[in-house]
Amino acid sequence: MGIVSYIREEIQVIRERDPAIKSNLEVFLYPSFRVILSYRVAHRLYRKKHYFLARWVSQRAARKTGIEIHPGARIGRGLFIDHGTGVIIGETTVIGNNVTLYQGVTLGGTGKEKGKRHPTLKDNVMVSAGAKILGSFTIGENAKIGAGAVVLRPVPPNCTVVGVPGRIVKMGDQRIPREELDQVHLPDPVSNDIRQLQNDNLRLRREIKELERHMKCMEKEDTIEIEENKEEQHETV
Ligand SMILES: CC(C)(COP(=O)(O)OP(=O)(O)OC[C@H]1O[C@@H](n2cnc3c(N)ncnc32)[C@H](O)[C@@H]1OP(=O)(O)O)[C@@H](O)C(=O)NCCC(=O)NCCS
Repeated sequence: MGIVSYIREEIQVIRERDPAIKSNLEVFLYPSFRVILSYRVAHRLYRKKHYFLARWVSQRAARKTGIEIHPGARIGRGLFIDHGTGVIIGETTVIGNNVTLYQGVTLGGTGKEKGKRHPTLKDNVMVSAGAKILGSFTIGENAKIGAGAVVLRPVPPNCTVVGVPGRIVKMGDQRIPREELDQVHLPDPVSNDIRQLQNDNLRLRREIKELERHMKCMEKEDTIEIEENKEEQHETV
């Protein structure tokens, strides 16, 4: 793509996605515009194995914009990085078309993987301010990652993910309810055991009393019987 058509496309992308822009000329002041232009140059150098030059171009752009895109990353058309400060895009990241990133986003690795270490973002993904996507997995088309989320697992298309670690709160228009967890009335195994022992103790006491009563009754019957026998014997004599 020639520089003029690139500028035209960037104007369109930024106008579509940033309501704050007032005139086409402002596009030249956007860090996103500058850094993506530098990235395209750096990526070409990288593919021709001019690694030092590629790095030089990308690091220069990083110093000027606060956005660090590794020249090895593969990025589709229509990427828009709003504000941009603190955005990091790792070497093996793959970004589809019309993706939007906000300031503070990291598309990084966990440090545990080799080879492809960074995420793949499909078309129309939106990653909100400060979100971190770490590892070699895919974020499906049209997914939205909430501000401050830390995503460590693949995300299916059309989902919204929020929180740390990231959890899916919406699939399409459908809300996914959070699992019910009573944080106040937590089970207490020790007091449960004590209650069980008290109940057992009470039951045993009742049984003992019942037995004692029963035995007293039997004793009484025995003494009556003995006395009756004695009386009988006396009468016969
Ligand atoms: C994630 C986001 C894009 C909204 O996506 P959405 O699909 O429209 O989701 P909803 O707004 O319906 O929110 C769904 C649920 O997630 C919660 N949620 C939304 N964003 C969240 C976040 N960043 N962190 C934690 N929870 C969040 C909502 O409270 C809601 O919870 P509920 O169902 O219990 O009410 C948005 O909330 C967000 O994070 N935007 C930030 C954009 C940004 O970076 N702006 C910077 C400009 S400078």
